[in-house]
Amino acid sequence: MSDPAAHTQLVPPSSVVLVSGGSRGLGLAIVTDLLESGVKVAAFARTVTPELAKLADAHPDRSHVGSVDVTDLAAAQAFVRAAEERLGPIDGVVNNAAVGQDSLHVHTATADIARIIETNLTAPLQLTRLTVRRMLAQGLRGRIVNITSICAQRGFPGLVAYSATKGGMDAATRSLARELGGRVLVNAVAPGFFASEMSAVLGQTQLDQIVRRTPTGHLTEPEEVVPVVRMLLREQTNINGQVIVVDGAASI
Ligand SMILES: NC(=O)c1ccc[n+]([C@@H]2O[C@H](COP(=O)([O-])OP(=O)(O)OC[C@H]3O[C@@H](n4cnc5c(N)ncnc54)[C@H](OP(=O)(O)O)[C@@H]3O)[C@@H](O)[C@H]2O)c1
Repeated sequence: MSDPAAHTQLVPPSSVVLVSGGSRGLGLAIVTDLLESGVKVAAFARTVTPELAKLADAHPDRSHVGSVDVTDLAAAQAFVRAAEERLGPIDGVVNNAAVGQDSLHVHTATADIARIIETNLTAPLQLTRLTVRRMLAQGLRGRIVNITSICAQRGFPGLVAYSATKGGMDAATRSLARELGGRVLVNAVAPGFFASEMSAVLGQTQLDQIVRRTPTGHLTEPEEVVPVVRMLLREQTNINGQVIVVDGAASI
């Protein structure tokens, strides 16, 4: 990683982007936006929803979708190979797939803690290693965007293991950005709470409380997060190793 030329070349916009958890919620919004921006997109989740299948049908030459459990490294590897055969080398990754939590730490089963850590921390680290190795082997420069959460920076009851995984990914973002010496730009986007299947466990009282604490007066919308992800993948900036919070200043 000590090639001085690495520091003199810019990282071009990603043109083939892998999105994990692209079947619904924020992931689906990211896939939709990237396809509309002309980017080629490979997206997977455990279940391909009708919405994701419809998008793929609408962009047959620029999309590749499939059913993959992100914790199954062999399946993820096979998906990446198939996607690259169809779309070309992947030079952008959005680590978005994750599972939520709604249980006090003392009541969370060991197996549930393990599942949250495996899905939200181990799997994205593995997927990142797999895709970055391929980028470097092919002499490509690329970009990684990790979707983390405001929970990594502020405490929320019922989200202890989840918060730990998101804090882990924020920390990995910084160290990987250093390790890759500018060949691959690595950043994280940390949204505030937004409505999705994951956050459906929040009650109206909690949602009202979050809105009251938010200077912009509303919950974050996926559409307010998507442009930041696109910017990190596509714009020529020198942003690297950062965690960008998108929460209307709720956490300030
Ligand atoms: N919602 C919020 O308030 C909020 C706030 C801050 C950050 N975030 C983060 O934003 C990201 C998206 O969250 P969301 O709210 O859009 O969640 P969501 O609606 O529950 O979507 C999660 C996505 O990840 C996929 N996924 C989950 N486990 C998977 C696995 N083992 N293998 C492959 N795919 C898997 C899901 O599909 P399958 O279930 O079919 O696999 C789905 O496509 C997550 O990283 C989350 O932590 C969410």
